[in-house]
Amino acid sequence: MAVSVRDVAAIAGVSVGTVSNVLNRPDKVAAGTVERVQAAIEELGFVRNDAARQLRAGRSRSIGLVVLDAGNPFFSDVARGAEVRAEEDRLSVLLGNSDEDASREDGYLDLFREQRVNGVLITPASDDAAKLRRLQDSGTPVVLVDHEIPGSGFSSVSVDDVEGGYLAAKHLLEVGRRRLVFVGGPATIAQVAHRLTGARRAVAEVADAALEVVEMPALTVLHGRDAGEDLVRRSAADRPDAIFAANDLLAVGVLQALTMFSDVRVPSDIALIGYDDIDFAAATVVPLSSIRQPAQLIGHTAVDLLLRSIDDPDGDYERNVRFRPELVVRASTVG
Ligand code: RIB
Repeated sequence: MAVSVRDVAAIAGVSVGTVSNVLNRPDKVAAGTVERVQAAIEELGFVRNDAARQLRAGRSRSIGLVVLDAGNPFFSDVARGAEVRAEEDRLSVLLGNSDEDASREDGYLDLFREQRVNGVLITPASDDAAKLRRLQDSGTPVVLVDHEIPGSGFSSVSVDDVEGGYLAAKHLLEVGRRRLVFVGGPATIAQVAHRLTGARRAVAEVADAALEVVEMPALTVLHGRDAGEDLVRRSAADRPDAIFAANDLLAVGVLQALTMFSDVRVPSDIALIGYDDIDFAAATVVPLSSIRQPAQLIGHTAVDLLLRSIDDPDGDYERNVRFRPELVVRASTVG
């Protein structure tokens, strides 16, 4: 089997990115490291993959990133992490916002193909792998971000949202709540569906617990506020004692409705938890408990995975990276 960049990196005791820098921009690397890498190249008889370099050579100095909602700080943090890794290879990140709309998504995929980007990172609005396969077959590598399409063959970087949903609901149950409401978004968004699946599993473990689902048209603050206003208009007996919002933007809107338009107290009357742990979560009038996703690490890892798949197509690196969600407890559930 041909000697790969990874083999050189292992012998030299450096990262694949450092070997790539020595090959493409040795001026950016310490002299001692350059010597170690060059010694490893000679020892292994490594021959750089000219096809990969030519592939990159015929490309713009950019990577395309399509997100579901550019207004969601989660995705701006993903983009920030992607930029940090892309800049190591002097690449820029072009951001496209699909707004969860398949036709807008198609428009950006066509644009990035025309722009001959090095590759495309995408949080898809649906599991329609066919159009992504057409893009990849036309020579533009694709990496799924924050979502995995099992069996699609696409590399991905994501978080286990079923585990995340389980953690959120289990926390509400552990603080004594039993009448849970899941405020979610379109079930076509796999991340939302997976969080609900996890929440259902946690609720099923507690005999006297119940979970009601409220599906909103989108995962925004305004839709969260609408959901919250509807819930507080209910009689006290019909109100939940806990709300799990599918993301922090919904949770912020729900919190606004509960605290500004009603006499409901959070958490004593209704506990509230969100998802993502965006920066605002800690800054709300009642700091939000949430399920943390390592957004910047997701973006950074996705670009690294994309560049590895270009530089070392036959490499033996992990192609479906899954991070663990983390429960962050604040005043909106325990107070
Ligand atoms: O866009 C919907 C949600 O999916 C975001 O808030 C983030 O949680 C992503 O995983």
